[in-house]
Amino acid sequence: MQTWNTALYDQKHAFVFQMAKGLVELLAPQAGERILDLGAGTGHLTQQLADAGVDVIGLDNSLSMVQAAREKYPAIDFVHADAANFHFKEPFDAVFSNATLHWVTEAEKAVVCIARALKPGGRFVAEFGGKGNMQHVTQAVRSAINQTTGQDVAHGWFFPSISDYSGLLERNGFEVRNVWLFDRPTPLEGDDGMKNWITMFGGGMFKGVAETALSQVIGLAEETLRATNQKDGSPAGAWFADYRRIRVMAVKVGAA
Ligand code: BEZ
Repeated sequence: MQTWNTALYDQKHAFVFQMAKGLVELLAPQAGERILDLGAGTGHLTQQLADAGVDVIGLDNSLSMVQAAREKYPAIDFVHADAANFHFKEPFDAVFSNATLHWVTEAEKAVVCIARALKPGGRFVAEFGGKGNMQHVTQAVRSAINQTTGQDVAHGWFFPSISDYSGLLERNGFEVRNVWLFDRPTPLEGDDGMKNWITMFGGGMFKGVAETALSQVIGLAEETLRATNQKDGSPAGAWFADYRRIRVMAVKVGAA
């Protein structure tokens, strides 16, 4: 399981929740609704939903994230659970999820849990990494690992296409109302922006890499990425992540 540095996440990767404004608009939360924030992280968006008068519960499978969220927003209920294996007694009007579902490789199990958690007519509004997400970065890291250790590693995330994810939802009781796949190049802060991203998020690719080889691998990947992920390709240029998002709005079939 990924262990998160919640302070680094909040300081350097605040874009994860800052860029979700359009997603919250798509959710269109109404005061009094019961909504699940699936993958609540440090709780910023959960609090935003609470501010809109929503009866919101945050769920995350990282205990450090849940603890940080509880400390920051003590009035909100944060639950420590797995997105592919959760159950609530009371159904929700909506399930909302930002920047989480690419971590959940048991995607069908997650969709089954989400469908079960919703009232008939309930909304599922989510955004996460779609097909082609972080292609340059994952390729550069995988090839740096290969060059350094001879290993072939997979990136290990779930980045589905529109048709794959729509099919998954339709097979599990959803009507897909809208779905988009779009590039969202995202600035990374400072000269070490790419190194910080790889260190923070890339751990899954480093499982078989010795601690002593890590800085060499990250340095090699960073050099390769100057050509594609640094504005102007110069050392003075700003780093960006080649994010590509899938955004979906689906409704659980059945009378509301
Ligand atoms: C993403 O938000 O697309 C993402 C974040 C961390 C790892 C992989 C993808």
